[in-house]
Amino acid sequence: MSLTRFIKDLLRKPESIPTPGAIFYNATVAKVLRKPETKIANDIVARMKKGTVLDIGSGTGYLVVKIARRAPSLRVCGIDLSTQMVKIARSHARGIDNAQFVFGNAAKLPFRDKSIDLVVSTGASHHWKTPRLVFDECHRVLKTDGEAWIYDGCPEVFSNPASRRRLNKEYGFLIGRLGYRVSTLHGFTKEEYQTVIMHMLEQTAFKGNYQMALTDIWMKITLRKPG
Ligand SMILES: C[S@@+](CC[C@H](N)C(=O)[O-])C[C@H]1O[C@@H](n2cnc3c(N)ncnc32)[C@H](O)[C@@H]1O
Repeated sequence: MSLTRFIKDLLRKPESIPTPGAIFYNATVAKVLRKPETKIANDIVARMKKGTVLDIGSGTGYLVVKIARRAPSLRVCGIDLSTQMVKIARSHARGIDNAQFVFGNAAKLPFRDKSIDLVVSTGASHHWKTPRLVFDECHRVLKTDGEAWIYDGCPEVFSNPASRRRLNKEYGFLIGRLGYRVSTLHGFTKEEYQTVIMHMLEQTAFKGNYQMALTDIWMKITLRKPG
């Protein structure tokens, strides 16, 4: 077993980030991801002005807060399996009426059928212990014609020298230089997306209604719920 595989398996063990990890994450990684997550917030706000957005594995809540601030007529909810992350996210959302955080498991979403217009998730899918259930839950809660945008790490984003230079220039050293290693440990390879994850998606309610594309610093899986 390679060292990378060993560390990857070790990091995957806890589904929910434990309290010290959440505090560390809030002080470090969450700050580094602000800029790329701002782009996602902009894409969401450009797509919809009304309705409900659900962020699964919302962590420190930055994305939810960003969307809620930019589009006060949207209702934006975050769900996370770590009580500490929910606590941190709530503190970041103080005073923002249209942002809300709940503790819970994305494999059993505490939301009604067809109640959500858009599901989003960043950097969380590699933590899910039962991804098939999470995908089916996304399908259940989405309204007809709704979409789920699942973003997670993929080292191939950084394997091309030109894109590495561009990301280094845009986001700085931490993403440009360390992105390859970090997304190897916190994500899936392109091959894993195109084999294991595609195979899994074929067994969910999204069968045939998804696409994958390398986007900015992520692999983005777009899942559709057609009428
Ligand atoms: C690496 S953090 C990413 C946080 C945030 N989305 C971001 O981009 O900064 C992954 C988060 O997903 C949460 N998580 C993992 N599995 C989950 C599940 N099944 N349901 C809800 N949250 C989950 C973890 O507790 C953790 O806070």
